Amino acid sequence: MYRKFNTYTEMSEYAAKLVIEQVNNNSQSVLGLATGSTPLGLYQKLIEENRNGKVDFSKVSSINLDEYCGLEKTHSQSYRNFMNNNLFDHINIDIRKTNVPNGLAEDIDEECKRYDKVIEDFGGADIQILGIGLDGHIGFNEPCEEFKKGTSYIKLDESTIEANARFFDNDISKVPTHAITMGIGGIMSAKKIIIMASGDKKRDIFEKARIGKITPQVQASILQFHKDVVWLFAEKN
Ligand code: GLP
Repeated sequence: MYRKFNTYTEMSEYAAKLVIEQVNNNSQSVLGLATGSTPLGLYQKLIEENRNGKVDFSKVSSINLDEYCGLEKTHSQSYRNFMNNNLFDHINIDIRKTNVPNGLAEDIDEECKRYDKVIEDFGGADIQILGIGLDGHIGFNEPCEEFKKGTSYIKLDESTIEANARFFDNDISKVPTHAITMGIGGIMSAKKIIIMASGDKKRDIFEKARIGKITPQVQASILQFHKDVVWLFAEKN
């Protein structure tokens, strides 16, 4: 399904409605969550509706897509802290049921295997939320020669480092160079996927992913093979 909205707020409200429906239909839902600026409006709406008593997250579990490697636990831009600050600390989710890869694991290969087991044990997410990178990445699956199945340790593209520098005082040297990301197999194992983007900068890559050639050079294009993807685009940021 494809829906276009005028504003980012309208898109976020629509995405929130789908997530809330899912949780209200199954209180033990598994939510696949993403970081970046795109899902922030959705998270805000979920916080609001949780406060209004319209949705209960107490039995919900979550699996996040990715995590930077090498950022201290206390760093505000680690994806664990991002999720705590922008969602988990403000809703009644059990923090022990929230999963984010450990970017500080001593044995990264083991951590990738552990994370795949977490995803597999859940049978994949019930709903996976996705943003899209300017180079078409989902999670941190950067353009390459293949679609990687499992969770992996990756080197971030220069363009991704530049795009994310805004979260690190606009200083490229502060942006981590590596990350752990759920693989394309893990993402595709979700029963439903909501991918969101907004504004002129994202228009082209979003359309390439949605209706262009399916190629690992645009990792999000693989979603065309998934049977239940909701493509949401807002004209204005
Ligand atoms: C980041 C994240 C992605 C996110 C993307 C877009 O690097 N790893 O999960 O979807 O880039 O971010 P934004 O929504 O801020 O444009």
